[in-house]
Amino acid sequence: MPLVIAMDGPSGSGKSSASKGVARALGLRYLDTGAMYRAMTWWMLRNGVPVEDAGAVAARVGDPVIESGTDPDAPTITVDGQDVSEPIRTREVTNAVSAVSAVPAVRKRLVELQREIMAAGGIVVEGRDIGTVVAPEAPVKVYLTASEEVRAARRAKDLAADPGASVTVTQAEQARRDRLDSTRKASPLAKAADAQEIDSTELGLAEVIEAVVRLAKEHE
Ligand code: DC
Repeated sequence: MPLVIAMDGPSGSGKSSASKGVARALGLRYLDTGAMYRAMTWWMLRNGVPVEDAGAVAARVGDPVIESGTDPDAPTITVDGQDVSEPIRTREVTNAVSAVSAVPAVRKRLVELQREIMAAGGIVVEGRDIGTVVAPEAPVKVYLTASEEVRAARRAKDLAADPGASVTVTQAEQARRDRLDSTRKASPLAKAADAQEIDSTELGLAEVIEAVVRLAKEHE
């Protein structure tokens, strides 16, 4: 398989910054699969689909056209041609995304898109099920973690503009999302048996990037 670096882990583990940094350092493309699940969720909410109703979500899964750019310096995500990079980060979408991403028909459609984008290789792919399901043959697999407190603090910083997003609220919402993401039936968040676990609680971003780059070089 051409070079694919699979980066999985829970929310707030620092996956996005680390994945983009690794892609830049190695001249690779970058794919944020979480953004694709968020884009699908944004479209469902906007079109009045009840996101807790798996049947209703499954019935509309083929309707939106979701496109992801792969430039780590300017990652883009569009739905029916509209740039949704900002609206997919709202709390409304964040709190609904676990329900939508637990629907098997959603996963089937988005995994197909992800595999098409990855086919040419030379890419860092971040998500929850990349090393386990989307690209089990990926030569480099990383499972990035961090303590719950550190992850909540990172998330609260991301949501600083939202007055409802205190560390306590964020921590509770995040714990709920991680519980749903890791207990769902379809491709739950899990560490692949052959993934290297990196705990970023005490590490700076540069150190995490360096550790992944080192793993990638061992596979050259
Ligand atoms: O990485 P993120 O927080 O933007 O991901 C948003 C949600 O998408 C996450 O709560 C679970 C889902 N997700 C998934 O089910 N599978 C992936 N490969 C990536 C994300």
